[in-house]
Amino acid sequence: GTPASKSTTMVTLTIDGESVSVPEGTSLMRAAAEAGVDIPRLCATDSLDAWGSCRMCLVEIDGRRGTPASCTTPAAEGLVVHTQTPRLKQLRRGVMELYVSDYPQERMTSPSDGDCKLHAMAAQVGLREVRYKAPESGGMTTHYEPQTADGKPNPQFLEVDTSNPYFQYDPAKCIACDLCVRACNDIQGTFALSMNGRGWDARMQPGMLDDNFLSSECVSCGACVQACPTGSLTEKSVLEIGLPNRTVLTTCAYCGVGCTFKAE
Ligand code: FES
Repeated sequence: GTPASKSTTMVTLTIDGESVSVPEGTSLMRAAAEAGVDIPRLCATDSLDAWGSCRMCLVEIDGRRGTPASCTTPAAEGLVVHTQTPRLKQLRRGVMELYVSDYPQERMTSPSDGDCKLHAMAAQVGLREVRYKAPESGGMTTHYEPQTADGKPNPQFLEVDTSNPYFQYDPAKCIACDLCVRACNDIQGTFALSMNGRGWDARMQPGMLDDNFLSSECVSCGACVQACPTGSLTEKSVLEIGLPNRTVLTTCAYCGVGCTFKAE
């Protein structure tokens, strides 16, 4: 979920009808977990301060307008929180549908993606179909088809970056959740990655615009691979032997720190 609060002051609130007491400053997401309520999420972890980028963890609060992200909203005395209303379920399915609409469909059923959090979350929020069509159906152009429907080179095609000896990066699978960037910066202090572009074109970039992983400041610690919830960053040896893509806890023998980050 989200990092624990160190406050010694307790607040009591109600989440989906369950009363729960947590230290002041605890996120609603973490408080919900204390109450036995599992809120869908893609970009929240116990290791990093909440960022609120994926919008999967929305909740409703009695007396407040809107649907705030539970990972960035602190618990407060007397709050009455709802996590599973029909409106919230519809919003989550809509957000997930947009993520999946630009995700390589063949990888959604690949055994090597068995540990991909995106898959699990799509199932958890009940996504059954994607209404936004692929190019051959006259819909928008994807980032992972080398050619357009009429056989011309796809100007938006994104190649897989295989330059790093230990892992590879498929930008077409990036959902711009920022977890890899923050793992690189906030945990490792390497500052090799950043988020580039906006909206449809937003994705992680190693180094500067013309860099790949090998030419960037990346030290191959593997923290970004551990953080990635979508299989966009994948450890090479795992790919080769066909195991789930997030089972290896470090990507190199020498760094000594890449194995300390956990995405869950
Ligand atoms: Fe809260 Fe992503 S988990 S916005």
